[in-house]
Amino acid sequence: MSIKLVFGTQWGDEGKGKVVDYYAEKADIVVRYQGGNNAGHTIKIGDEVFKFHLLPSGVVRKGKTAVIGNGVVVDPKVLISEIEAIRSRGIEPHLVISDRAHVIMPYHKMLDGAEERFRGKKKVGTTGRGIGPCYSDKIARLGIRMGDLVDEETLRERLEFIIPLKNGIFEAYGMEERLSVDEVFEEYSQYGKYLKDMVRDTVAMLHGSMDREILLEGAQGAMLDVDFGTYPYTTSSHTIGGGASAGSGIPPNAIDEIIGVVKAYTTRVGMGPFPTEQDNKIGEHLGRKGHEFGTTTGRSRRCGWLDLVVVKHALRISGANGIVITKIDVLEGLEKVKVARAYEIDGKRVDRFPASMKDIAKIKPIYRDFEGWTVENGEWERAKKEGISALPKTLKEYLAFIEKETGVKIRMVSYGPAREETVEI
Ligand code: IMP
Repeated sequence: MSIKLVFGTQWGDEGKGKVVDYYAEKADIVVRYQGGNNAGHTIKIGDEVFKFHLLPSGVVRKGKTAVIGNGVVVDPKVLISEIEAIRSRGIEPHLVISDRAHVIMPYHKMLDGAEERFRGKKKVGTTGRGIGPCYSDKIARLGIRMGDLVDEETLRERLEFIIPLKNGIFEAYGMEERLSVDEVFEEYSQYGKYLKDMVRDTVAMLHGSMDREILLEGAQGAMLDVDFGTYPYTTSSHTIGGGASAGSGIPPNAIDEIIGVVKAYTTRVGMGPFPTEQDNKIGEHLGRKGHEFGTTTGRSRRCGWLDLVVVKHALRISGANGIVITKIDVLEGLEKVKVARAYEIDGKRVDRFPASMKDIAKIKPIYRDFEGWTVENGEWERAKKEGISALPKTLKEYLAFIEKETGVKIRMVSYGPAREETVEI
């Protein structure tokens, strides 16, 4: 029995879906603990491709329990359509949803758009799914929780209080739309009926299952964390390792292993600083070869070199004791490969990620250069048997450099989307 946590160390899209799925094989319970349907992961099992935004990855594996923890924000409409989609493929999910998880309501989605319009040139580039406004309401104690959604009396009571307030905000934003309590109640009480049997006290359930294999599945990445990321260009939840505890009710000292997922280069969707961005041929190579298009919004991702200042920041804060390198195959075919190991700001060497946007804007990455490499046919298969010593020299140097700089052991290297394209170390 053990509790394992997997989180992203960059700006999301590190390839966590595959890593979570890999570890999920041994897990009895897979828990999502933050974010909502702003996330997107694609899982390939045999020839079948599954795309989820809200459901924990483990849900497609037989005999596993999938948990949506209290830290997640749930759009019930999206959740029901994902449940229906997997049912239509003959899989009956065993899903449990926290009664404390907050519900994304129609006004959250409307306000996500309005706030972005209000920010104008300074927009965050959100996914438009109502994530920020839902978390804002949670913190402002104006939220509706899953436990309220499935209780008609409480739902109506909350709506009667909240909807007039939201209509007032629409007016202040100069929006024409208004919501009616009856219409929202009509629609959302139906969702409540559908989900009622799945909504439970997941804290009690998880505490009663601490002797099982539990996998905590992070969404987004540490640089999108609302405190430790590139604020205000972040998401609204805690994407660092610590978010797992607050978002599931599993105490920090019960977590046995913390694994940070590191993509071999960096990508970012939406606006905000990105010190190692390559808005050039190299970025194009990474985007094309790495299929860097958002699963959720279809937007093309900005691409750049691996930034170890970012990764070290994420690993330090999250307390990771292992890393998984993903998409290493994408770097093949480049003449030179660079990695940022530190920054220069105002002529001074800095190896911590700064908080201030002004300092971040002045960052000049200090790179270490590597000769490019090509992995010949069969070399990955050999590496699976003999270890990474079977790989090309410069690739080994690249991996060794990451390990040395971060001080965290590489547990696994992924070189393609399929489950088999993985070398355990
Ligand atoms: P929000 O989470 O929709 O509020 O968006 C805030 C920022 O986080 C935007 O820059 C999004 O592009 C980014 N973001 C949110 N979810 C993901 C994700 O799963 N992967 C990558 N970026 C994300």
